[in-house]
Amino acid sequence: MPRVLVTRHLPAGGLDPLAEAGHELVQQADDTPFTHDELVAAVADTDAVVCLLTDRIDAEVLAAGAPRLRVVANVAVGYDNIDVPAAEEQGIAVCNTPGVLDETTADLAFLLILAASRRTSEAEADLRARRWEGWDINQYLGRDVHGATLGLVGFGRVGQAVGRRAAGFGMQVLHHTRRDTGLPGWVADLDTLLREADILSVHVPLGDGTTHLIDTRRLALMKPDAVLVNTARGPVVDEEALAIALEDGRLFAAGLDVFEREPEVHPRLLAAPHTVLLPHVGSASLATRTRMARTAAEGALAVLAGEVPANLVTKPRKS
Ligand code: GLV
Repeated sequence: MPRVLVTRHLPAGGLDPLAEAGHELVQQADDTPFTHDELVAAVADTDAVVCLLTDRIDAEVLAAGAPRLRVVANVAVGYDNIDVPAAEEQGIAVCNTPGVLDETTADLAFLLILAASRRTSEAEADLRARRWEGWDINQYLGRDVHGATLGLVGFGRVGQAVGRRAAGFGMQVLHHTRRDTGLPGWVADLDTLLREADILSVHVPLGDGTTHLIDTRRLALMKPDAVLVNTARGPVVDEEALAIALEDGRLFAAGLDVFEREPEVHPRLLAAPHTVLLPHVGSASLATRTRMARTAAEGALAVLAGEVPANLVTKPRKS
């Protein structure tokens, strides 16, 4: 019977595909995260691992699982926590959860677009702290979202879902991808998109070409009253550079759901003006997190059955 290590407790029903197939599920009783060393020890003698984006599945973990380990299924669409080339070298398949979290994550991106533009976090913080002294015509003045130009950096499923929402707000929607999408609003040059956007929303995966894609130089190209939103991965934006731009008033506001060194948040960002900061909750609805767990479980199940799942990230194995 295949043994499947599940690194954390998942939403109810998420593991049903594996349980119904009679696979043995190995989990910690108390849901404490594995340390890296514990993970290295735990993957030995397992056929599959169902893990989260907080688990670092590096070459050492993969080597400890090989040769028995056949698949690592990440309960996330991003898989920058997994050393994919090392997995391919070991012949271990990697799966993710594309297509099931786009709308939920786009909802959250839009929430950040609205909240950062309208400064709702600081306004609510004042109210809760009883600092609000009553309606004031000059208080909490933000930026209009309707009619603004939205720049999407990356135009995958989530970026497109944000673009659909923006249409309902009468926004002009531009997008930048390296390859021409052939779609209206494509901007060939990222710097041009940065100059034109009133609101910039980041939707690229983290990889070699996207670490600090939004850096000091690029932030300086943005309009001083622009808003930056990141629901993709923290390291795509240079946090310190962003905090400095906000402090200096060279950018109006930022809405962030992801950070460079989660769960740490750069202290300058915490103190910077006009920020809305959320603890990586982009896909956090019960329905979506359950679908994500099921999609990962189905991917692992398929690989163990010798099939090629649709959510395979690695190249299919030649048998
Ligand atoms: C969440 O951040 C994901 O990649 O699914």
